[in-house]
Amino acid sequence: MGTTTAGTRLRTEVPGPASRELQARRSAAVAAGVASTLPVFITRGGDGLLVDVDGNELIDLGSGIAVTGVGNPAPAVVDAVREQVERFTHTCFMITPYEGYVTVCEELNRLTPGDHEKRSALFNSGAEAVENAVKIARYATGRPAVVVLDHAYHGRTNLTMALTAKNMPYKHRFGPFAGEVYRVPTSYPFRDPDGMTGEQAAARATTQIDKLVGASNVAAVVVEPIQGEGGFVVPAPGFLPALAAWCAEAGALFVADEIQTGFCRTGAWFAVDHEQVVPDLVTTAKGIAGGLPLGGVTGRVEIMDAVHPGGLGGTYGGNPVACAAALAAIGTMRSADLPAAARRIEQTALPRLRDLAARVPAIGDVRGRGAMLAIEFVRPGTLDPDPDTTARAAAACHRAGVIVLTCGTYSNVIRLLPPLVIPPALLDEGLSVLESSIVDTVG
Ligand SMILES: Cc1ncc(COP(=O)(O)O)c(C=O)c1O
Repeated sequence: MGTTTAGTRLRTEVPGPASRELQARRSAAVAAGVASTLPVFITRGGDGLLVDVDGNELIDLGSGIAVTGVGNPAPAVVDAVREQVERFTHTCFMITPYEGYVTVCEELNRLTPGDHEKRSALFNSGAEAVENAVKIARYATGRPAVVVLDHAYHGRTNLTMALTAKNMPYKHRFGPFAGEVYRVPTSYPFRDPDGMTGEQAAARATTQIDKLVGASNVAAVVVEPIQGEGGFVVPAPGFLPALAAWCAEAGALFVADEIQTGFCRTGAWFAVDHEQVVPDLVTTAKGIAGGLPLGGVTGRVEIMDAVHPGGLGGTYGGNPVACAAALAAIGTMRSADLPAAARRIEQTALPRLRDLAARVPAIGDVRGRGAMLAIEFVRPGTLDPDPDTTARAAAACHRAGVIVLTCGTYSNVIRLLPPLVIPPALLDEGLSVLESSIVDTVG
């Protein structure tokens, strides 16, 4: 792959003719409800680059939505997967078990916060992990209610749609949704009243729970430590600890959904580590397995083991190939110290994004942790979200060959999720293209 600037990484317009041809075939074969941010068809990956069918090299600041942090493909993952598929591809852990599943659970029990005794169970996706965390929490507590936050995203299955906040595109016309789900305000420093502390935001949430749900009815409060799809919302310090303390007092379980934030993304193994919060249950997926589908629920032994044998599982959950990939990915995170790599990405990118905000009046806020960073667009001088400007800025980045994603309840946030192994020069190059695309389009 070349080492030129993004302009010369592109051989055609984006998308190019070969991608457009495939897009036509796709439209005739693939359901329209499955959309793509950028309709370029990929043939090959690299550490921070994706090569498309027209030979364009795109700088990847999205990692397939926070999945390929260890590389795409990561050499250790390739070797582990190859070795596993040559031995066997599937038995179903519920029929005849295998060691890889056990080893992944041991790793999850070791790596997730807290030194209490834990157990884990494996599934296929993030949504499935969240669903199972709710099943386990209800079973263990004997309570029905699940509390979630404004701007939350937990998936697209029926129960997780109920937990997810945003209507379009996730929920519109897909109801009715699962019951006993209650939504309360979160901590969103950019949009909360000036000076509202994390503790005050938590009190605002827990007062509502007390009044509207009743603490003794609550099985679980499910929280993304940094909200992902909802806008990369980093709560004010003190919010997560106060919510966890309320749960402990109420006998409700504090469930950290670390599906987007986990596995080194925010500069720590898990985002709750930044505030020393120890959840009762942690859900994981995305970055855990270097691109293969795997999700997990990890938690206190007495909670996880409450469920009767046979109550949890699924045909493919903890598939041996996905487990082999996860063990290799986790090995790479350890040996390459990817939490430190994420912190270095923050040190490079955040000051540059702040400079950009100073130059572009439509940027209302820049925030994030580690390699999970965001730019929120507003009408200059107000808090009014500006989704049109956001869409134009993202489209300009795409045309210039940089993959960025948007997010936010108001669709007014560009988020950056570079691979943790992105070479520093490529990150610099991607940021330069992003800056000039945004300045030229909306500055
Ligand atoms: C915080 C969070 N929870 C759950 C999910 C759902 O994961 P999946 O798409 O693997 O079902 C996501 C996906 O974006 C997520 O970010």
